[in-house]
Amino acid sequence: ESTTVVVIGAGPAGMAVATLLRHSGIDCVVLERRSRDHVAQRQRAGIVETRAVRMFDSWGLTDRVLGGVPYDGILEFRVDGRSRLVSDSDGSDGPPARLCPQQVLVQKLTATYLEDGGDLRFEAADVSLHDLTGDRPTVRYRTADGTPRTITCDFVAGCDGDHGVSRRTVPDGVLTAYAFDHGIGWLTVLADAPPPAHPLLAVSREGFAAHFPRGPSASRYYLQCPPDDDPDAWPEGRVWDALRTRLGDPGLVSGAITDREIFRLRSLVHDPMRYGRLFLVGDAAHIVSPMGGKGMNLALYDADLFARAVRDSVQGDDTALHTYSARCLRRVWNDQEFSHWLTRTLHDAGDAEPFLRNLARARLDRLFTSPAAAGAFAELMTGLDPAGDA
Ligand code: APR
Repeated sequence: ESTTVVVIGAGPAGMAVATLLRHSGIDCVVLERRSRDHVAQRQRAGIVETRAVRMFDSWGLTDRVLGGVPYDGILEFRVDGRSRLVSDSDGSDGPPARLCPQQVLVQKLTATYLEDGGDLRFEAADVSLHDLTGDRPTVRYRTADGTPRTITCDFVAGCDGDHGVSRRTVPDGVLTAYAFDHGIGWLTVLADAPPPAHPLLAVSREGFAAHFPRGPSASRYYLQCPPDDDPDAWPEGRVWDALRTRLGDPGLVSGAITDREIFRLRSLVHDPMRYGRLFLVGDAAHIVSPMGGKGMNLALYDADLFARAVRDSVQGDDTALHTYSARCLRRVWNDQEFSHWLTRTLHDAGDAEPFLRNLARARLDRLFTSPAAAGAFAELMTGLDPAGDA
């Protein structure tokens, strides 16, 4: 069996790559380890930034792949209970960001890809990559009933996340890993409770908290906690008490908690994002701490660049394949910096030692009072980097 691109993984990165390739008339096969139901239900990010919306627009795909509602770009900061609104509006024309939960995007990308005749194989076991530095790499796997299969291709798109097989296949010493642990834990809670008017980030001496919409009647909450805390130490009553205190909203309406976990805030970048004919896309190449909502958007950025590079290559021009890694990494570090800045500012402004706390509060105050600072923030929120590829 043979195709142009084998895509490993059917998360946001893999389904974006596959949909854009298919839309360009380029053959590909997607191999996903899990079942369709499992992938379609996985909940995570919730904002598709302005740049990513306009990217889908430029492919003529917005209506088919984006769900949710347009986002007015207003973010609420609540500092010791005092509300400050910041807008991501940069005055540019074109469609705004969208509040579109990740699973809705993945479901719609999957439906679009299949409607366009795409080849998507779930429950692919024991995926392995071979001859990546040769002219025709091969990918082997086993179907759900155990039958071994081999696919020969021109390119492999490694979209299988941080624990996938793609990056692991690259020999030691080829990639440099830049890892950072922020030393912060977040309890994340998903509940059937009314969403906030605007995505809300709250700073208080009790620690950071946030409240994000996840559809018309669901919310996701974040509570800063020790990185090694036990989720069992957070029964429902404690969760709602802590949220009411830290959000400065004694009347916050609670609801049934449907999911709860604790994770460490960490960041990771692999350089380069290419090895021979393997191209890493999304979390397979980089993890960005969740503050700032850039993880899924970075995956969409990579996917767009990769799909366009393959399209050029099929027409005989390999330039964009050669510059893929450097262009992606420029954007990756820009967003890592944004996420790190926002993470430090919002946590230090709460419970850090007094000197750092006052520095962080000065940074926040600048955001609310200086149009130049607010403009720089808006540029990072939208992803419309004037020096980038927008
Ligand atoms: N073989 C096949 N598929 C695999 C393998 C493997 N060996 N290992 C992992 N996968 C699949 C996973 O089951 C998953 O469906 O690859 C997919 C990777 O998806 P994500 O981890 O969501 O990674 P990505 O698509 O890059 O996500 C980008 O969305 O969920 C957020 O935090 C994520 O912000 C990031 C963004």
